[in-house]
Amino acid sequence: MAIGNLDLTMLDRSYMTEEQKSLLNISNISQKEIEQLLVMRGQVQQFQIMMMKYDCALTEVRTKLEVLNKELSLKNNRNPFESIKSRVKTPVSIYEKLKRKGIPFSLENIEEHISDIAGVRAICSFVDDIYMLADCLKKQDDVNVLVEKDYISIPKDSGYRSLHLIIEVPIFLTDEKEMMKVEVQFRTIAMDFWASLEHKMKYKKDIENAELISEDLKFSADLINQLDRRMQQIRERIDAGDGSPYSLRPTEEEEKASSETMEIIRREIIAEQKAAEKKKK
Ligand code: GTP
Ligand code: MG
Repeated sequence: MAIGNLDLTMLDRSYMTEEQKSLLNISNISQKEIEQLLVMRGQVQQFQIMMMKYDCALTEVRTKLEVLNKELSLKNNRNPFESIKSRVKTPVSIYEKLKRKGIPFSLENIEEHISDIAGVRAICSFVDDIYMLADCLKKQDDVNVLVEKDYISIPKDSGYRSLHLIIEVPIFLTDEKEMMKVEVQFRTIAMDFWASLEHKMKYKKDIENAELISEDLKFSADLINQLDRRMQQIRERIDAGDGSPYSLRPTEEEEKASSETMEIIRREIIAEQKAAEKKKK
């Protein structure tokens, strides 16, 4: 039997030590140690069942999105999303997330405090498709929307943009129905590209001048936003069969972003000049 990708048949019970009883306090826990912790508490099977339920919830949500994709692509002659990714959080990252929040590792706490054990990401070509898909999902009568975070209208300070929904969907087991939480993230291809690069930077330690990279990322996030808007307008012109350009006057927000960008570029040039001078000396 396996927990996620952990193989419990390989478990070495003699391995358990007093030290492992204090597992709750250790950092950099391994998958093996989490298995041992669950064995000690007699919760292996309960944990497996819980993960299986989240996995089923993922299947439900993926199916809902795929059904919408099929119907909308017939109606509109294009796919509302380009690709869909999903994952169940690993036991180690569940453990670490609870630890970061200062909450003890227990099955109850996992269910109560972590809403992204099951995660789905739908990658769309156009921003309007994101809202259309999300609205279709929200309207379904077996979907409860618990949280909605629109980081497209109000991006994070990092420049991160995406639409997040935390929803509850039912799964039907042999003799029970249970509502399971799933986090659904909607973003454009460009936003996804940006987020994966930014994620790499966040997790890489010891980057020199990391602030400069962050500023550059923020700058690129604004460019991506403009590009996404423009691509959508081009698609609308193609759909309308009218090539005359829309007014692409920048919004107030874009003008502000653009002057901030000039300031960033100016600071980068000064920093580069200073670094070059330092090298000379
Ligand atoms: P987490 O504890 O990270 O899940 O954050 P949260 O519970 O406060 O929720 P939030 O909506 O901020 O983020 C949920 C998820 O969105 C994260 O796990 C990431 O997948 C993604 N995300 C949020 N902010 C950023 C960001 O600045 N950069 C990147 N690359 N991803 C982000
Ligand atoms: Mg998360």
